[in-house]
Amino acid sequence: MIETLKWDGNLILLDQRKLPQQIIYNTYEDTEGVYYSIKEMVVRGAPAIGVSAAYGMVIAAREIFNKEEFISQYIKKGDYLISARPTAVNLKWAVERMISCAKANITKSDRNTLISKLEDKAKEIYQKDIDTNKAIGENLLTLFNENDTILTHCNAGSLATAGYGTALSVFYVAKEKGINLKAYADETRPRLQGARLTAFELENLGVDTTLICDNMAAVVMSKGKIDAVVVGADRIAKNGDTANKIGTYGLSILAKNFNIPFYIAAPISTIDFDSKSGDDIPIEERDANEVRKINDKFITPENIGVYNPSFDVTPNENIRAIVTEKGIVYPPFEQNLEELNK
Ligand code: MRU
Repeated sequence: MIETLKWDGNLILLDQRKLPQQIIYNTYEDTEGVYYSIKEMVVRGAPAIGVSAAYGMVIAAREIFNKEEFISQYIKKGDYLISARPTAVNLKWAVERMISCAKANITKSDRNTLISKLEDKAKEIYQKDIDTNKAIGENLLTLFNENDTILTHCNAGSLATAGYGTALSVFYVAKEKGINLKAYADETRPRLQGARLTAFELENLGVDTTLICDNMAAVVMSKGKIDAVVVGADRIAKNGDTANKIGTYGLSILAKNFNIPFYIAAPISTIDFDSKSGDDIPIEERDANEVRKINDKFITPENIGVYNPSFDVTPNENIRAIVTEKGIVYPPFEQNLEELNK
């Protein structure tokens, strides 16, 4: 499994903008660098952003020298990191955990002890992400039979997390158990996470993978080639409405049309109990040139108007189940997600 992020006292990130052609790691030593690595999508995928932000908050703590003002300055730095990408709630979740850890330790610790406690917390968040994803994979696998074919969108794999991935965790766990599953991967315009990242990741894992353009999903479904759709999530509202990479909503409509089960795979940290429904989830809009250009070259008239929402919301009625580390949640989601969180 290729490492998405590492920590050696600074944050080391695999530069996902360069995959699959180049495997390059960049080192980040200040909060600003971590902010830009998230914003520019050196690191991407909700859990990986969360873990990176946790380490970013260790770096942020090192930049504060005044104990009296530590917490207020720490919260400001946390808000700055959260503002890098608004949709993935794991970012906010991880920053809040780091702030709670600082609050719990500030009075009884000197500066070095506090920073080392924060470092331990970030390492714990990293390790927990791997364990959580493995458990999601185990739960997902109970839904499948040998030789089933899963369609996935964007990249919710090891590259999007500390390891294993969420939607793709089922392929890692199946491999470990000697069970064969096949994949179809949507290319995922505009940033091509499916074509560049999922295809790369699943090929490395030795999974039989077929790449399709986003507009081919209806045809492959109509030909009976897909047993289920499994995607990740950036934020799940209390009622089960789920924000994920743009195009997920369309896939859910297609899956419903062809009576194909549509599953969300996500850790409990992706559920935002403060968002009542999808209407409360902020949707990030990204730069128009992501649509106008491929590999830094214009493929369109240079000034053409563009709409580039990075995520969409799949309504809960299109979702067969939400698969978490604690179990598989079926409708009614509001009630059953609440139960899971107890
Ligand atoms: O814009 P990205 O690449 O960060 O979007 C990623 C996704 O939409 C993933 O499906 C989601 O974050 C879940 S990753 C386990």
